[in-house]
Amino acid sequence: SPWAVVFGGPSPEHEISILTGLQAERVLTRAGEDVLSLYWGPTGAWHLVPTGTEAKDYLEGAPSGAKPVDVRLGADGGFFVKGRLRAERLDVAAALSCLHGGLGEGGGYAGLMALLGVPTTGGSLYASALGMDKLAFSGVVAAAGIPALPRVALEPEGSPDATPAFPGPYIVKPRFGGSSIGIEIVDDLAAARAVARASVHLRAGAVVEPYRRDLVDLNIAFRTYPSLELSEIERPLRAADGGVYSYADKYLAGGAGEDAGMASAPRELPADIPEDVADRIRTYARRVAAVTLTTGAPRLDFLYDESNGDVYVNEINTVPGAMGLYLWAGRVSAADVLRGMLVEARDA
Ligand code: DAL
Ligand code: MG
Repeated sequence: SPWAVVFGGPSPEHEISILTGLQAERVLTRAGEDVLSLYWGPTGAWHLVPTGTEAKDYLEGAPSGAKPVDVRLGADGGFFVKGRLRAERLDVAAALSCLHGGLGEGGGYAGLMALLGVPTTGGSLYASALGMDKLAFSGVVAAAGIPALPRVALEPEGSPDATPAFPGPYIVKPRFGGSSIGIEIVDDLAAARAVARASVHLRAGAVVEPYRRDLVDLNIAFRTYPSLELSEIERPLRAADGGVYSYADKYLAGGAGEDAGMASAPRELPADIPEDVADRIRTYARRVAAVTLTTGAPRLDFLYDESNGDVYVNEINTVPGAMGLYLWAGRVSAADVLRGMLVEARDA
């Protein structure tokens, strides 16, 4: 049976997911794998789409040649292509989730696939939901004794906020979000509240974090199959407030190469950091993998204080942009990273 590559989904990160999905589709196809491309539209409709369709053909919804797909629960659950006389069941060995944000990355999709009986990558419902909730994630990390970036919830209007144990300025972020969408920098809590009132992205929940320009972003990926393995550490050199479009542009700029997508974003890889800092990041990454029960090939984002050597776990991305494939370059081929995830899901 073929692998399915699933992308799109109802999420502010819909377009980035298309880019990640098309890259994964390309990597697997070039490696000789049999792939079915399943596009989950922004309003929830599923489509079987011709493999090899370009990103620009998705800008107005499903591309031409797309076939509507039913998602059915029940004894014969799975995906069915709607036909005039009868529906054709799509047999897939496992699905590769390229879904960023929203229900796709946040547990809804994982739960749906569990009910459908389709093995999928991206982690369990629980690991996905934990990874999507910045507040819960940092709580779990801190409870394990791993240094987590301090953050507090901006609570609903009328309830007393927890006072941050850190001084302003702050970053206000969607509690359940990604790709820097909806992020604002503010001086104090009153300003954070005003932003939360005005922003559609913060409606589902917001967190407040310290804003320090001097902290350095450092990222690492880990994969859990065939056994726990860590990638190089990267220092991304992207603008802190990069919005969705410039981020997508970075993916597109990567072109058609095997490690396309974010491959051309400015970064230092491997990051030029002291060995003891790299060692701590690797130790924390192993422990976060263990405590969050995340599978697949997530990317873990850190902040590093060069003035005193402190390192904080910022967040986990259970389905990282471009699947984090560039982080494995020179160690594991992009096709083997994806194949490993699919085999892990199929055999779970
Ligand atoms: N949510 C984006 C895609 C990332 O973290 O890479
Ligand atoms: Mg993220």
